[in-house]
Amino acid sequence: MFSKTALLSLTFLSVAYAQQVGTLTAESHPALTVSECSEGGSCTESALSVTLDSNWRWLHTTEGSDNCYTGNEWDATLCPDGETCASSCALDGADYSSTYGITASGAELTLTFVTEGEYSTNIGSRVYLLADESSYQMFNMKNQEFTFDVDVSNLPCGLNGALYFVEMEEDGGLSSYPTNKAGAKYGTGYCDAQCPHDIKFIDGKANSEGWEPSDNDVNAGTGTMGSCCSEMDVWEANSVSSAYTPHTCTVTGQTSCTGTDCGDGDERYDGVCDKDGCDFNSYRMGDTSFYGSGLTVDTDSPFTVVTQFITADNTTSGDLVEIRRLYVQNGKVIENSVAAVDGVPEVNSITEDFCTSQKTAFGDTDSFNERGGLAGMGDAFDRGMVLVMSIWDDHAVNMLWLDSTYPTDSSSPGAARGTCSTDSGKPEDVESESPDASVKYSNIKWGPIGSTYSA
Ligand SMILES: *[C@@H]1O[C@H](CO)[C@@H](O)[C@H](O)[C@H]1NC(C)=O
Repeated sequence: MFSKTALLSLTFLSVAYAQQVGTLTAESHPALTVSECSEGGSCTESALSVTLDSNWRWLHTTEGSDNCYTGNEWDATLCPDGETCASSCALDGADYSSTYGITASGAELTLTFVTEGEYSTNIGSRVYLLADESSYQMFNMKNQEFTFDVDVSNLPCGLNGALYFVEMEEDGGLSSYPTNKAGAKYGTGYCDAQCPHDIKFIDGKANSEGWEPSDNDVNAGTGTMGSCCSEMDVWEANSVSSAYTPHTCTVTGQTSCTGTDCGDGDERYDGVCDKDGCDFNSYRMGDTSFYGSGLTVDTDSPFTVVTQFITADNTTSGDLVEIRRLYVQNGKVIENSVAAVDGVPEVNSITEDFCTSQKTAFGDTDSFNERGGLAGMGDAFDRGMVLVMSIWDDHAVNMLWLDSTYPTDSSSPGAARGTCSTDSGKPEDVESESPDASVKYSNIKWGPIGSTYSA
């Protein structure tokens, strides 16, 4: 959602080594140490790295430095259609720290909200964990747990520091779509359960056809195509509220959509993905003193988030039946809050029963179970999912679905999600009032249940 204006000196111009990959800035992935643990709790560290999503990158002519996309619009001459655009335009390397506010040190990754760069102002970011220079790290979390430390103390109302899995292709679509020459190295191939239309390249083609610049985001717009896939939101949070949410789709792998399949607007429940998901937000589930500043999980200081993916038979091949959550802070294990909502069992994890009863209690459409539910989420893990970390603000509904009351005029069960004002979270406000907001993710670990944390 960012584009640099072409002010680079001509002396930086060099041979374009491959079509559709720019070489004006060297791509140097920030290294991030992660740990894989084994039964008994011994963990092996590896120095992996992260890559920035292609949407944020400078997109310019393959043979030069003219912008193919500026602000929230495509260059009509360079991009008369998606195929031509893909062959004429190149994604360039990223200057992670100075342009995008992304820094990594050891096992810690920091994403800063607003970065005033040399050429433009960057808002938010989205990065993927790489296994090597050209492949995403693939995860199957069934019968496993995933653990990380997070510092949300600098994330106010309206911001979301998210850590999640999506069913992207391991190579970013390089082999499936030969017109994509950039691949995972340049962060291509994003998809999620909202079937986003703001992705600039989908299936190796520019999404320029039908592109409409956003009326409230100077960096974004929407094209005819959306990019759908199953999504496991392990963590969507700020200092006020948090949620974890599986979203299952009926499609396998990254799948482009047009029309009804995208589930836009009035057709929300007719698309291929479950956009609502089955969320566990402690505040929404009735415990309003569990998560926040000075509360049981105290968001004033860092803590550890543990997520366990339980299968029916305690093996990696069984159906996913439960997603558990616990926290560790100041040397104490903190069990997740227990649901306290009429009609919902007093449980502290996501199960099929929890989802069904929560949907009924809140009067929500159950598109989760209709799209495959937890078993479907597990099937997506069997095929392999990519780890995403991001910081973002919400140009659609100001993040009120996470941290405030939504719908804003509702007092029905399930409407209250956090203590933020219903006037909070407007991107123009958060961008001007909290540009230095940030999230830190660190000490990422995964392995068998019980192997990744101790009190
Ligand atoms: C799975 O493991 C739990 C203990 O962690 C046990 O209570 C349960 O009975 C096991 N289930 C099966 C099907 O083996």
